[in-house]
Amino acid sequence: MAANPAEKKETVFYYPPVDFVKNAAIPGMDAYRALCRAAEENYEGFWEELARENVLWHKPFTKVLNDTNPPFYKWFEDGELNVSWNCLDKHLANGNAEKDAIIFEADDGTVTKVTYRQLHERVCRLANGLKSLGVGKGDRVVIYMAMSIEAVVAMQACARIGAIHSVVFGGFSAPSLGERIVNAGAVAVITADMQIRGGRRLPLKAIVDEALALNDNHTVKNIVVYRRTGDGIPFTEGRDCWMDELMARQSAECEPEWVDAEHPLFILYTSGSTGNPKGAQHASGGFLLWAIMTMRWTFDIKPSDVFWCTADIGWITGHTYNAYGPLATGATILLFEGVPTYPHAGRFWEMIDKHKVSIFYTAPTAIRSLIKASSEDNRVAPEHYDLSSLRLLGSVGEPINPEAWLWFYRHIGKERCPIVDTFWQTETGGHVIAPMPGATPLVPGSCTLPLPGLSVSVVDETGQELPWGQGGILVINRPWPSMIRTVWGNDERYKTHYWPEELGGRLYQAGDGAIRDPQTGYFTITGRIDDVLNVSGHALGTMEVESVLSAHPMVAEAAVVGKPDDLTGESICAFVILKNELPKGEAAKHIASDLRKWVSREISPIARPKEIRFGENLPKTRSGKIMRRLLRVIARGEEITQDISTLENPAILEQLRQSL
Ligand code: PRX
Repeated sequence: MAANPAEKKETVFYYPPVDFVKNAAIPGMDAYRALCRAAEENYEGFWEELARENVLWHKPFTKVLNDTNPPFYKWFEDGELNVSWNCLDKHLANGNAEKDAIIFEADDGTVTKVTYRQLHERVCRLANGLKSLGVGKGDRVVIYMAMSIEAVVAMQACARIGAIHSVVFGGFSAPSLGERIVNAGAVAVITADMQIRGGRRLPLKAIVDEALALNDNHTVKNIVVYRRTGDGIPFTEGRDCWMDELMARQSAECEPEWVDAEHPLFILYTSGSTGNPKGAQHASGGFLLWAIMTMRWTFDIKPSDVFWCTADIGWITGHTYNAYGPLATGATILLFEGVPTYPHAGRFWEMIDKHKVSIFYTAPTAIRSLIKASSEDNRVAPEHYDLSSLRLLGSVGEPINPEAWLWFYRHIGKERCPIVDTFWQTETGGHVIAPMPGATPLVPGSCTLPLPGLSVSVVDETGQELPWGQGGILVINRPWPSMIRTVWGNDERYKTHYWPEELGGRLYQAGDGAIRDPQTGYFTITGRIDDVLNVSGHALGTMEVESVLSAHPMVAEAAVVGKPDDLTGESICAFVILKNELPKGEAAKHIASDLRKWVSREISPIARPKEIRFGENLPKTRSGKIMRRLLRVIARGEEITQDISTLENPAILEQLRQSL
């Protein structure tokens, strides 16, 4: 797969290797274009055929798309299915019962495997166990667990009985967890006694107790606890039970609950530019279909693959590409409990070597930190490991800078593995723009072209499509099966946030800016156009962090902006005005450290500001609006070239600049 300085000046394309193309699901650009054309010519027919061929229906659908009440679209609405049945029972029936479904590597390196038959049995037992506690179809279950076989079992068990899961990332604090439990109206929480990451223990169950204690309006009746370490933890009689004891009492068979295609499969909270996190609600049929199709198209999944997606199940990537997509396509997945740098920064490469991973999907942040680590200490360099099992690499969560792309390509993929840079979001359910590895010529730093069936454009503020070469707002032009259905309990927020009136109300606004290459039409994502930050591939609302900072007893006002960061992509810079006088020297350091701890405790360590600057005021317009664009410039240490004539208090700029 040699780089070919192609005709177009400056752009270097990286072509798929011949061997890869030969066996690829989409072998070449003609095949890709044919699929795109099929979708353009008969949109519903295209999706209908995919849904009939790739999803197992208990009762086949007769309607494809219901668009009578936009933007509340319905897909395959009169079809009935069960997602867990599609992920498990299917493989028992087709002779794959003894195939490894999950290879789990614990933080300390211990490896545990489960076959599809064993996974099926565990899911059935927990599903029956949940039913015995009174959890049923449509009930919400919050899952607060670390990466583990049991976490996948918990998600699949909910799907099996038609309960709606809402996984909360194990790094979220008690207040964040509590807020989500209350918003979802959860009747049960599934958690673990402890979580182990990088050699450290985090008491998950105790955090659940704290979250519930903070909210006397919660509706939780039961807590099911996975015994990760067996550490003694407080138990509330009648409410709490051990997962293993609950499962041991159950039958190993559980008839799935057949649900309508539109039945919610899960709610996953994501940060918005304003207010509280929003619960993105996904539907069973459409989500499953796109999880399957993207496994086949973007990841070219084959029965012999060992697929490793490093994303935690607390994020959408862990939902679509750990808990559902790979299982629905009968793959073997690797799940990892730990962190890439423990006990050493060669852990990822060691695990690829040890488990013969063939498809490796990770985030640019991880790649950048491992580049740094191996340049500082050659002992953890990928060259010390056998990575010849790899055939495909993937990147997700944030733009991958060309330097990191090239390092990944050369040092990990050894110039033989295509890289799929996948752009998508919690709300899209699965990939939106990504190369097809056996077809698309790759350009570092570009996620290239939309997946077949997805119609994506770059438009101006009125919704008019812009010519290639002009940057604008990224939109999706038509509803697609795996799209978010609504914001849980808040239809209005769904409508106004994602389908803005300014763009005509019929375009899905992703929240990102983009530009298309004038020659190839390839997309490059230029970053969020709203106040959502992307730290290490995790979306965080500026408002969320600001309101937590402002709630600190010492703080009068706070504003938060993003700043480019070599490792985490973007980092948080907070401008803080204290109620008392401006702190100096050691006192300022102390307060800043306190504020960082406060944010960690209230939201999560991810939200901790890297930089905190104190000032007497914030730059405001005469009408009192904080001028964040000026704060961004100050945070980056750039010269202010913008018009500041509307600024009420220009002197403050100099003070904030000096405050570092
Ligand atoms: O800004 C885009 C960025 O991550 C946002 C979505 O975040 P979240 O819902 O947490 O889902 C992350 C995993 C899918 C997007 O709006 N983003 C995600 N992937 C890419 C990306 N930006 C550039 N390139 C990508 N490949």
